[in-house]
Amino acid sequence: MKKAQIVTDKYFKIASTDPRLFGSFIEHLGRAVYEGIYQPGQLTADGDGFRDDVLGLVREMNVPLVRYPGGNFVSGYNWEDGVGPKELRPARLELAWGVTEDNSFGLNEFVQWCTKAASEPMMAINLGTRGAAEAKDIVEYCNHAGGTQLSDLRRSHGFAEPHNIKLWCLGNEMDGRWQIGHKTASEYARVACESAKLMKWVDPSIELVACGSSSRGMPTFGEWEATVLDECYNDVDYISLHTYYGNHSGNTREFLANSLEFDDYIKSVISVCDYIKGKKHAKKRINLSFDEWNVWYHSHGAPFEKWSKHPHQLEDVYNFEDALLVGSMLIALLNNADRVKIACLAQLVNVIAPIMTSDTGAWRQTIFYPLMHASNLGRGIVLKNIIIDSPKYDAGKYTDVPVLDCAVIWNDEKESVTIFAVNKDLEEDLEVDCDLRQFDGFTIKSHIVLENDDLKAVNTETAANVIPHNGGVSSLDSGILTAKLNRHSWNVIKLTK
Ligand code: AHR
Repeated sequence: MKKAQIVTDKYFKIASTDPRLFGSFIEHLGRAVYEGIYQPGQLTADGDGFRDDVLGLVREMNVPLVRYPGGNFVSGYNWEDGVGPKELRPARLELAWGVTEDNSFGLNEFVQWCTKAASEPMMAINLGTRGAAEAKDIVEYCNHAGGTQLSDLRRSHGFAEPHNIKLWCLGNEMDGRWQIGHKTASEYARVACESAKLMKWVDPSIELVACGSSSRGMPTFGEWEATVLDECYNDVDYISLHTYYGNHSGNTREFLANSLEFDDYIKSVISVCDYIKGKKHAKKRINLSFDEWNVWYHSHGAPFEKWSKHPHQLEDVYNFEDALLVGSMLIALLNNADRVKIACLAQLVNVIAPIMTSDTGAWRQTIFYPLMHASNLGRGIVLKNIIIDSPKYDAGKYTDVPVLDCAVIWNDEKESVTIFAVNKDLEEDLEVDCDLRQFDGFTIKSHIVLENDDLKAVNTETAANVIPHNGGVSSLDSGILTAKLNRHSWNVIKLTK
């Protein structure tokens, strides 16, 4: 069996994981909201119309943060359309996705849903067709206690207490020509800066995410981040990153290697943030919000009826290899926890999502499991790890790809160490050693494995073909962990005292 070694040290700390690293995203798109989280009359729907089967799965994944309401949708959205009596809410042409939006679900329903899901809302504002005035208004409506027209409007809608939404996105993917109200970097930087100023004047406790590039492949990547941060450095707290991968050429080895590019993308954005920090002699550091990341390609080009209401859109059915890449991307997020504070798997339900629904049930897609494991077991201090002697491969545009990806999390309070590891080798198992003698008295609690002989295996409403088991083979001998990582597998090894 091939071998590799992980070297780690409890004094070499990267950072504590920010719980918001395990966030997700709900957009008014396809069946994410309607028939996803909200479906009055559905078998499991509660009095508010929220599907309890979906809420149960969201809680199982332990999603601490959900971004809303878009995505591309937000750049043409009037938040006022979605508040107040439902019978008065207007139906609108929704230009981003070519559908009709009836606004029967809006901001207040989302905040209520978040409470039930044990999640915090991350609210995006429209900087496509709107600007600073409306940005100020929505913060006042949500977060001001009362005594002004907008805060009293919220109260009249049945919400006496302010929502106190802490995290806000200043628009979405404003560098993309597909975006309603697309802007150049300087156009965006000005409106983002003025909006940020007014929003923080209304509520100084909020945190703001400026739009970075909509992917690393954009022609303006780098320059966009630099221009935006040069203008907004003092007014914002985070810059966003978005990326989606697909196995377009049917080359799984190349597909799985995308986690290297993902890691490199993070490091490039950190460089730009720190370039502006240096240029400005700033003490403040801008951190990263990877607020859209996932695999997305299975559903591309799927037809739908134009101007219909919540048609099936972007309903990727994820296979086992997708879960492996999602696992490797989570490992990269964890290993960059000193700078990536927020991340949202895009999206949460039905639309490129870990959870799918029909009228009769809800089920876990393959990619559900890595996020569930990371969110439940990945909280703590991420320790630096160096992988020694991992076998490597070349595939497509990548060379020297280590087959082993790994993150090590130490939770001092819970007295646990968790190792997340992916073996990308499609043919061979890998034996991994790790010296854990610093964790005196710890023993192996579990070794969870997600594996499948068929890389293309999927889960459906009636067949859960890809599910984790707790039968991984590892041993601890005088503090030295030896773990067998089966070929193409996601592994979660937990040790406790
Ligand atoms: O998540 C789907 C879409 O991908 C979002 O609306 C947009 O922001 C991105 O391009």
